[in-house]
Amino acid sequence: MKIGNVILPDIPLILAPMEDVTEMPFRLICKRFGADLVFSEFVASEALVRNVEKSIRKMRLVEEERPVGIQIFGHDVDSLVVAASKALEANPDILDLNCGCPVKKVVSKGAGAAMLKDPDKMVRAAAEIVKISNKPVTVKTRIGWDANSIVVGDVALRLQDVGVSALSIHGRTRSQMYTGLADWRVIADVKANPAITIPVFGNGDITSGETAKERLDMSGVDGLMIGRAAIGNPWIFRDIRHYLQTGDVMAPPTIKERVDVCREHFYMSVEYKGEKRTLLEMRHHYVKYFKGIVGFKPYKMKLMTAMSSQEVLEILDMLEREKNEKL
Ligand SMILES: Cc1cc2nc3c(=O)[nH]c(=O)nc-3n(C[C@H](O)[C@H](O)[C@H](O)COP(=O)(O)O)c2cc1C
Repeated sequence: MKIGNVILPDIPLILAPMEDVTEMPFRLICKRFGADLVFSEFVASEALVRNVEKSIRKMRLVEEERPVGIQIFGHDVDSLVVAASKALEANPDILDLNCGCPVKKVVSKGAGAAMLKDPDKMVRAAAEIVKISNKPVTVKTRIGWDANSIVVGDVALRLQDVGVSALSIHGRTRSQMYTGLADWRVIADVKANPAITIPVFGNGDITSGETAKERLDMSGVDGLMIGRAAIGNPWIFRDIRHYLQTGDVMAPPTIKERVDVCREHFYMSVEYKGEKRTLLEMRHHYVKYFKGIVGFKPYKMKLMTAMSSQEVLEILDMLEREKNEKL
């Protein structure tokens, strides 16, 4: 299948954009385990307009991760267009507009999911970005602002009309934030509309091969986007692909595999953003990489307070040695 001129396999498995998570090191790891398309975390248009160094850095890409999309968000159409042109200078394969972020500091300004309350602005922003973009423009959104305003069906058509090349739909409303369940029936309705010819990707609550197949079968979407379940578990892409192809569940990664990938993630992060930030930010990932390992707690405490790379690597070595021995 294709998004604009970007060729992807049928039913691409897509790494969802996630702030502080889908940085380049993690994108590369997900890619290796079978993600067909990866997205940067969202980048604020207002920051790009002001050339904020930290935001520019978020758009640094490497060849090995292609195809890769950069996602931007903002509330002001003019700033979004300027931001889009700066994002395009980073040479992504796809440019994505975030219309789904539910966080208060984002929606209070009219950005992210607040775009669903002002579909005219949402469509205008997408249209203006499409006009200046030499790359396919996609939109990621939710199904509506709240249960009384499920607008994604109408919005999808209008976005397609102005030249948006694909749509990713997280099946929750903004009001739900991350509670309840993603409503894949609404996603299925958008996909079932014969007037919609651009790819529709479904997102929300995919956690395994089985959930992927169940959502895919009931919705008929063109691809699946996976967010939280990939954190600390990049193997999910391989697991889903294997299940879709064979109906078999793959064996989970061994402790050695988990330690190896976590260690590599750590090394790459130090190179990418330095030791200080890595020591702090990898803390979110350890608990996910080692979820379910009996007796992980003492290692966790040590990892959470480690003050140097050397210390982290020693704890990981210890975890591998001691836990593998007990298997
Ligand atoms: C930590 C975190 C950060 C996120 N950051 C972004 C973001 O930058 N842009 C975006 O479009 N969605 C963001 N999301 C939403 C995810 O892309 C995804 O839509 C959501 O988690 C639902 O999918 P899932 O059930 O597979 O996790 C974020 C989610 C999480 C948990």
